[in-house]
Amino acid sequence: MTPYFSCSGCGFKGLCGQFRTLLLISANFIIFSKVIDSRHLERLSAPDKRLIMVIGASDSGKTTLVWHLSRLLMEHYKTAIVDLDMGQSRIGPPTTVGWAMMETYVEHWLDIKEKDFYFTGTVTPFGSLLPAITGAMLITEKASNFAEKVIIDTTGLISEPTGRVLKHYKMDIINPDIILAVSSGNELSHILDPLRFNAKPEIIMIKPPTGVKIKTPIKRREYRFEKMLDYLRESAVKVIETRKIGVRFTRHPLQFNDDLRNRIVSLRDRSNRDIALGVIRSIGSKEIKILTPLKDVEDISSIVIGRTAIDMEGRSLRDL
Ligand SMILES: Nc1ncnc2c1ncn2[C@@H]1O[C@H](COP(=O)(O)OP(=O)(O)O)[C@@H](O)[C@H]1O
Ligand SMILES: [Mg+2]
Repeated sequence: MTPYFSCSGCGFKGLCGQFRTLLLISANFIIFSKVIDSRHLERLSAPDKRLIMVIGASDSGKTTLVWHLSRLLMEHYKTAIVDLDMGQSRIGPPTTVGWAMMETYVEHWLDIKEKDFYFTGTVTPFGSLLPAITGAMLITEKASNFAEKVIIDTTGLISEPTGRVLKHYKMDIINPDIILAVSSGNELSHILDPLRFNAKPEIIMIKPPTGVKIKTPIKRREYRFEKMLDYLRESAVKVIETRKIGVRFTRHPLQFNDDLRNRIVSLRDRSNRDIALGVIRSIGSKEIKILTPLKDVEDISSIVIGRTAIDMEGRSLRDL
């Protein structure tokens, strides 16, 4: 990446006074600058606009936008990203929602390490709205304890009724200062219209960039699988005695037998915090064998069994 131009020469006239730093930009950033204009950036960079939630359909460029925006705002504010997409996760492994601090200028998402994640046990909010909402609240709260600006990425689920309901309750619980809505037509009006007389959140409408690429279901599946494999890369099988831990399910409780093999689980500590994920290798009345990157399972006090199973042959993560 090469320094492309300095702020004094850029199109962000509204920002030039504040953002005197040299902007390092990528090809995507050039398109980004056409999507977000200086007026929007002034609003987004106002000190009292702390929580910025980005919504839009799948493949509308939300995640890319969050990335570039966070790299701009981190020049002047302690900036965090919250990733509420448990399917196409960037921060934390799939099945989780997570947050990260933008501490140093990094070139790629892969270089960002999550501070915390919350296990939702699913790769889509469909049928798991409670874990999705609970995770959204807990993770955003943690991020906002540390950061002056929190940029919240969301899933592309906007359809009636689930998408609308999920977004409304997410907004109620997070109480964002700004909704950055990426919309090519009126596909978000069922979500945004009911809010239009409210003092908060301020709604900024932007068009998706022309360069966005549609991710096919196969690509999405591959991404999730590869991301999970990457998370499990340095894993080993750990044996945990069932009498020493609590076991809970994100959905229906199931018998401890081979049906649970390959399920993704979260390992929690005594303060009920998700420490690591794992994959059930075997489970019986006496012991559970879990493949996990967690080195020491001594402090684990409970496991949460989700809906998602890893299918090594089919190279996918499937919700059961
Ligand atoms: N401004 C842009 N210019 C070029 N390509 C983009 C831009 N924004 C997004 N893309 C590409 O479009 C695809 C979808 O973008 P993404 O940010 O993942 O969308 P969403 O998070 O809404 O699903 C990705 O492959 C991304 O690299
Ligand atoms: Mg995304």
